[in-house]
Amino acid sequence: MSGSYKLEQYTKIINEELKKELAKCEYNEPVVCDAMKYSVEIGGKRIRPVLTLEFCRVCGGNINDALALACAVEMVHTYSLIHDDLPCMDNDDMRRGKPSCHIQFGENYALLAGDGLLTHAFDVISRSDFAKKYPARAIEAIEILSSLAGPNGMIGGQVIDLKSEGKQISLETLEKMDELKTGALIKAACLLGVIAAGGDEKMKRAAADYASNIGQAFQIIDDILDVTADENELGKPVGSDLSGNKSTYVSLLGLEKSKEIANKLTENAVCSLDIFEDKRFLEELAYMLASRNK
Ligand code: IPE
Ligand code: IPE
Ligand code: MG
Ligand code: MG
Ligand code: MG
Repeated sequence: MSGSYKLEQYTKIINEELKKELAKCEYNEPVVCDAMKYSVEIGGKRIRPVLTLEFCRVCGGNINDALALACAVEMVHTYSLIHDDLPCMDNDDMRRGKPSCHIQFGENYALLAGDGLLTHAFDVISRSDFAKKYPARAIEAIEILSSLAGPNGMIGGQVIDLKSEGKQISLETLEKMDELKTGALIKAACLLGVIAAGGDEKMKRAAADYASNIGQAFQIIDDILDVTADENELGKPVGSDLSGNKSTYVSLLGLEKSKEIANKLTENAVCSLDIFEDKRFLEELAYMLASRNK
């Protein structure tokens, strides 16, 4: 099975499950649920939930046990994008090829849709069959996801991002920012797969190592695409970092050097998979992400 075929199959499974979980979000005033569903269902590469399912599989688990965790990670990610696009943050009007949530529903409902997705994510985990079957694993998953998405993780990175606007920051600060704003949730996605499978500490270390390398590379490529991509293909505005005076790998080191670092990180990621017997798809995924154009 080719890597891209496997990615497609996983994406199908994830999209079906997300639809099912979001259908449980109903309320007699539906606007916020509509906004939540809109932002999740208009698209997205689904990289994080794919990582959750694949890490579960390579650790010897059944991917059905990881589905709720995979959905939760994608909900947290989508919430972060909705808030990231708001005028008080990056002020971007397009996301996943469609008008951003606040353009479609207004800032107030976009804010609430983000809040709704963040909280619904934890509802999905705690009510899942997985939590009934493996309560200790579910608690561990909640602990990992909440801490890596929170102020010591993704939110902390978003703060550094805002504080670095219009400034020349050090490479060290840039690395820290990307590790937190992007790497942390990718790390959570990988670790949740290991946890779903009941994997050991060695597997967690390998997953964290892979995640930290592809996570850093992922944000570098995102920064590069902000300069080089075709807007229609990318599905979000290009040149957003420049107009927002963002500190990025490209602004600090230029395109060539950035690409070189992303490639090196991808190689490091692949090396961290040695303990897994069936690591082919994770390897292919790392290379696919490094050469992506959206
Ligand atoms: C965009 O993430 C935000 C970053 C962390 C760079 P993705 O590139 O995974 O966005 P979607 O999910 O495919 O829309
Ligand atoms: C996004 O970084 C990180 C999070 C959403 C946490 P960017 O601001 O570069 O992401 P895009 O380019 O808007 O997708
Ligand atoms: Mg941003
Ligand atoms: Mg942004
Ligand atoms: Mg970006």
